[in-house]
Amino acid sequence: MNLAIGFYFAVLASTLPSAAATIDSSTLNTGEALLQTHCSRCHAIGKDGASSHEKAPPFRTVMERYPAENLAEALAEGIVSGHPDMPEFVFKTGEIDAIINYLNSLKPPAKP
Ligand code: HEC
Repeated sequence: MNLAIGFYFAVLASTLPSAAATIDSSTLNTGEALLQTHCSRCHAIGKDGASSHEKAPPFRTVMERYPAENLAEALAEGIVSGHPDMPEFVFKTGEIDAIINYLNSLKPPAKP
């Protein structure tokens, strides 16, 4: 576990509003491109469509199960568990911001 990354997330967690996430449109395309490159081989990454790997849940489903912040931590440390068919990924902090931002945009807009 990289100390710098741990510190980064401690800061991130304390500055992020816990309720509705705000979407930063400037990093949306970066986040989508990263997922497209590394994950779309197995997971559906968009608002609809099926995953190409029958066991891989579409990311919009993953987002219903976990807060995006939990996923951010997993991405920084490398996702291994539950991924028998999958290489381990470790992303940089800037990339994770973009990915989380994109994933948040998959959620239906918060009800007023
Ligand atoms: C080679 C195929 C493959 C690739 C590439 C892949 N995944 Fe997965 N992923 C899977 C499979 C299969 C599962 C389901 C494992 C299971 O539950 O048995 C999974 C599960 C997950 C889960 C857990 C969902 C849950 O409910 O527990 C997350 C989160 C996830 N993947 C994120 C990612 C991310 C982020 C990427 C890209 C960086 C990625 N995956 C790339 C195959 C893949």
